[in-house]
Amino acid sequence: MTTSGPGRVFRRSAVADPPVAVEANGSTIVDAEGREYLDAAGGAIVVNVGHGRREIAEVMADQATRLAYAHGSAFTTEPLEAYAREIGPRLPVDDPAIYPVSGGSEAMETALKLARAYHLARGEPNRWIVFARWGSYHGNTLGALDLSGRQPLRQPYAAWLGRFRHLSAAYPYRAGDAGAQALGTADELAAELEQAIRTAEPDSVAAFVAEPIVGATLGAVAPPDGYWAAVAAVCRQYGVLLIADEVMTGFGRTGRWFAMDHWGVRPDLLVAAKGATSGYWPFGFVAASGAVHDTVRAAGPFVHGFTYSHSPVGAAVAREVLRILDTEGLVERSAAQGERLLRRLRGRLADHPAVGDVRGSGLLLAIELVEDRSTRAPFPRAARLTERLVAAARDRGVLVYSSTGSANGVDGDLIVLGPPFVVTDAELDRIVDGVAGAIETEAGVDIATR
Ligand SMILES: Cc1ncc(COP(=O)(O)O)c(C=O)c1O
Repeated sequence: MTTSGPGRVFRRSAVADPPVAVEANGSTIVDAEGREYLDAAGGAIVVNVGHGRREIAEVMADQATRLAYAHGSAFTTEPLEAYAREIGPRLPVDDPAIYPVSGGSEAMETALKLARAYHLARGEPNRWIVFARWGSYHGNTLGALDLSGRQPLRQPYAAWLGRFRHLSAAYPYRAGDAGAQALGTADELAAELEQAIRTAEPDSVAAFVAEPIVGATLGAVAPPDGYWAAVAAVCRQYGVLLIADEVMTGFGRTGRWFAMDHWGVRPDLLVAAKGATSGYWPFGFVAASGAVHDTVRAAGPFVHGFTYSHSPVGAAVAREVLRILDTEGLVERSAAQGERLLRRLRGRLADHPAVGDVRGSGLLLAIELVEDRSTRAPFPRAARLTERLVAAARDRGVLVYSSTGSANGVDGDLIVLGPPFVVTDAELDRIVDGVAGAIETEAGVDIATR
């Protein structure tokens, strides 16, 4: 596509001339040259219900024609009220009230402010400290980035960060490894949180934030058994709000409606986005428990908001996505297809010398590459293995998500998979062929010296 003349896109793509996407359907994206890509990452693990859903486009057009915008400070709207009633029973939050925004980072910022507003409303102004974990991602706005424990993203902006504090990642595969900042058992992790709360000034901790299953940063890492119950108990004991970041894991991605459902733990605040509208509309929300909502509202208005929060079109699209997930049984399908994909990946890659771990839950899966399987030593970052693998898979017509730095903040190579839930069996085979083929050609033992 031409780049000459004034006025151009500040592109996100690292390559100078990315292909021009023109249409998409199911799990396939087509570019302007007619080339097809199997979207094994659902974009950024977003497109849960699949591409090209005309019914969503129709709902969107209909709502935009009738009412595209009414400011949330003056009005509520039918789609918003209906969505809150419909999503409420699905959320692992007691008596939830949703605050809709435009995406995950905004939702995370909103959750932080709500936690602070809650403690202020209760007459505890000293509670301001927030703990998050290393090896996490909570967004790219400065507050959400500061929560995130992902070194390559933090490093350029480190001078602006530092308000929030970080504890060990719940990352059994790398527990105890030098530089990994990870622990592997529920007892150790809960004890570390308790110790951190007790060592902070008395009654000064506002919240603990974590992804129930870590998405992009560590690659589909579930915590050890007993972790969530133990951590929730510590939070409750010390009056610390538990914030679950389900931006990537929500809406069936891990095979349950929400990842917290795997453990039956109910956070005080739950942050959602991505799969809520499956990429059809920029949308996310915070679900506050009834106790948090009522306490904050009783003290007065919650001073917050964005121009595009409480969007009626966003709510209409989210309702339609919810209807599709429900009527087509797509959450169950995510669990079933995820199991198949995991089995096939393990079958094909189990003996490859550069494959350290193949893991995941539902259709959120990851492959962690290592230079040495016995020591889990990562490839040096200079080898740029992840970048090679992403390109090699794309050359085979398969799009994957990826991450670097999981081993020690710099090194570490991850391929993350998250196809739409409508992915077919034949497409699962093509994903396995594309990814395994890329690993087989790019991650030979000589990679570090190439
Ligand atoms: C767990 C998690 N939290 C927050 C975010 C930020 O969401 P957004 O990119 O919509 O701002 C992401 C995005 O990848 C995420 O995976």
